[in-house]
This record gives sequence, structure tokens and C-alpha cells, in this order.
Amino acid sequence: MEEAVMGYEEALKKLKDCGQEHVLNYYEELSAKEKEMLLAQIAATDFSVLSSCKEKNEAAGRGVIVPLAAMQLPEIEAKKEKFTALGIKAIKDGKVGAVLLAGGMGTRLGSDDPKGMYNIGITKDVYIFQRLIENLMDVVRMAESWIPLYIMTSDKNHEATTGFLKEHNYFGYNSDYITFFMQEMAPASDYDGRVYMEEKWKISTSPNGNGGWYSSMHKWGVAQKAMADGVEWLNVFAVDNVLQRIADPCFVGAVIDGGCAAGAKVVKKCTPDEKVGVMCLEDGRPSIIEYYELTKELMDAKDENGDPAYYFGVILNYLFRIADLEKIRERNLPLHIVEKKIPYLNEKGEKVKPEEPNGYKFEQLVLDMIHELDSCLPYEVERNKEFAPIKNKTGVDSVESARALCKENGIAL
Ligand code: UTP
Repeated sequence: MEEAVMGYEEALKKLKDCGQEHVLNYYEELSAKEKEMLLAQIAATDFSVLSSCKEKNEAAGRGVIVPLAAMQLPEIEAKKEKFTALGIKAIKDGKVGAVLLAGGMGTRLGSDDPKGMYNIGITKDVYIFQRLIENLMDVVRMAESWIPLYIMTSDKNHEATTGFLKEHNYFGYNSDYITFFMQEMAPASDYDGRVYMEEKWKISTSPNGNGGWYSSMHKWGVAQKAMADGVEWLNVFAVDNVLQRIADPCFVGAVIDGGCAAGAKVVKKCTPDEKVGVMCLEDGRPSIIEYYELTKELMDAKDENGDPAYYFGVILNYLFRIADLEKIRERNLPLHIVEKKIPYLNEKGEKVKPEEPNGYKFEQLVLDMIHELDSCLPYEVERNKEFAPIKNKTGVDSVESARALCKENGIAL
């Protein structure tokens, strides 16, 4: 992508307008190349996100929440043949693509490498990327057709990700069907919304969350190419679930059959207060309530069968119809403000790596896209067969718990 050109005066004006003049504090000390890089970064940065720090403590306020029934396992089992045939046909017709969200920093796992490069093997090497590709290959074999795989990286991990996959020969995937694109970055700031500097010539940035994936895919021309190739559906999934079923024909078929704009794989929560977002209807549109927004009243609510009404948690595996994504591409999604440890330059220009959180990063989330759409099918899957997220090294949602689940599913590690 082309970088905008901006002169010093213009950059200073842009910064003054949003109270960020300190970004140019070291300008006179910089080399010509560094000056150029800083001006290009100022031109490309959207500083408007920083003003949302001030509103951080104002509750976002939700609409009227009512339950949204999920399609549950018995119904799926009964219609499995029909749905699978529909899904396989769509895949064979080249209408289904898969989008791997791999732009995150994986800070909780604590490795400097991209999360997909993490080796969960015990007696042999089994990388997270490898596990995902192996799962996708099951469907490729079943449909006898390659599925376009789009991989989103970020400025922080693009080189490492592309290099690693190439070095491993894409774990057997046909590289003609793999396309990379990069997500946008957002500035990171202190608690007053003043951006940190990472270097004298560089504003501190972090990936802007997984909610911008479609607009980034479009900016890179990858979405247009997919549409020109006849892709109509995109299955978006997280890098860290090593039991992730991708382009699952039965799921694809169920969403097509239901005439929905999207589908979301969901699992029954294991406890009412489990930390997953749950599906609901908000002001008549599909939506996801985050676990910390789930009031006691909603947690205890029951449906007509006496089961908990807000029972199905999302697992970051969604199917979107591209035609509907196009309609919402320009819309602004809510901004989530996350406290983080942000390395920065202090007043003396020395690099500091904080031990404790010292500011905010700004993210948009894919789950907020669901509320923009007219319909979404919550589709239940068996959690022990399809949900083994790796967020931490040990404990809940960890390398340890994912290894145990792989073992339970007969996957040799
Ligand atoms: P997480 O919410 O677990 O974030 O991402 P993370 O950055 O990977 O990990 P922590 O919180 O720092 O430990 C869920 C999915 O969304 C992707 C991740 O790569 C993962 O697949 N993601 C997240 C992006 O693609 N971009 C982002 O900016 C954030």
C-alpha cells in the first residue's frame, strides 16, 4: 500500500489539532530517513481514537436484550446430511473462503514469536499453524477442492509469519490458495490519551484489534479479488483454537439453508459466569454480550424449556456473507480500550519497558460486526471436540488444557 507524503508543517498542524505535538520533540535530531519515516507515520495515523480515553468510564449503554435461540446439536444431527451436502456444494463451487486472524500479539502466552509458531508438540513438533492447516485439509479432502485461505497479520508479525509458513512449505497447503494481508495499527497512549513514542522517530502502536479485518482485507484489494473469484462466504477464525473446524461444511450449509447473513459457532457455557461472550438479540438485531456485561438477572434468566436463556458462548468462529460485509464496511465499530504494558521513551529519551500497565491500546472487535447485520445463526458445537483455545501457558485456556483436549480427540502430539 502507498504511504501518504506529508511535510513537516502539515504534520505539526495535524498533531497540534489533536494535542500530540510532543511526537515531533526529537525531530531535529533525526536522520533524513528517520524524519521521512516519522512524517509518513504521522500522515497514516488516526489520532481520533485517543479522544475516547476521556469517555472510558462512561458505560456504553446497551439496548433491549432478549434471548436468541441457538440451533442445537439434536437439530443439527437430524439435518446433518442435508446441511453437509449444501456446504460441500458451496465449497466445490469456490464460494467459501477462510480467514485466519493472526494479527494479535498473544501477550498472555508470553512468546515473542507469532502465536501460530508456538510448538504444542510433546514427542514431535506440532505448531499451532500446522494444527489449523491439518484441520482445514480434512475439508479440502472431503470436498476434493482447495479452499482459499486468507491470513491476516500485523506490522509486528508479518515477516515472521510469512517466513515461517514458507519455510514449512505451508504444512502441505497449496500456496496458490494462500493470500496474506496486514491489519491496521492504532497508536498506544498513556492514561491521558497522549501517545507514547517507541523510538525518537516512531509512535508506539499496536494492532487495532480483530474487528477491522474486513476493511483491511478490502484496503489490500484481497476482498475484491475474492469476490471476483466467486467467493461469497468467509469463515473467520482465531489462530489460537487448535481444535478449530474451519469451513465446516455442515455449518456452512446450515447458514445457507437458514438464509442468514452470518453464522456464529457457539458452545454451551460450562458455568453461568464463564468468561465468554453470549449471543442474544439487542433491539431486534443479533448481538453479543460480553461476560462482564452480563447482569445477574440475565445470567439467571430461563427460556421456555427452563434452560438458561443466555447459555451459548461464541468461540470466534463466524461465517459472513461478503455481500453483507460490503454493506457495513464503512461503519465505525465501537472502540474497546484495553490497559496494557507499553514500552516507551521517557522524558530523557531513554527506553523503558514497564512492569505494570501504563496506558491504553485501542481495539475494534469482530464480535461487534454481528450487531451490524440483520441476522446471525448461533450454531452449537461440542466444546470438547471444537474448542481448545490457547491464551496462557498454564491453567485455563492454556497450552496444557489444549494438549489434554487434543489427546481426548486422538490427535498425536
Ligand atoms: P486475542 O483477543 O486473544 O488477542 O485474539 P491476542 O492479541 O492474540 O492475545 P493477548 O490478549 O495479547 O494475549 C483473538 C484472535 O484475534 C486475533 C488474534 O491473533 C487471535 O486469533 N487478533 C487479535 C488479531 O488478528 N488482531 C488483533 O489486533 C488482535
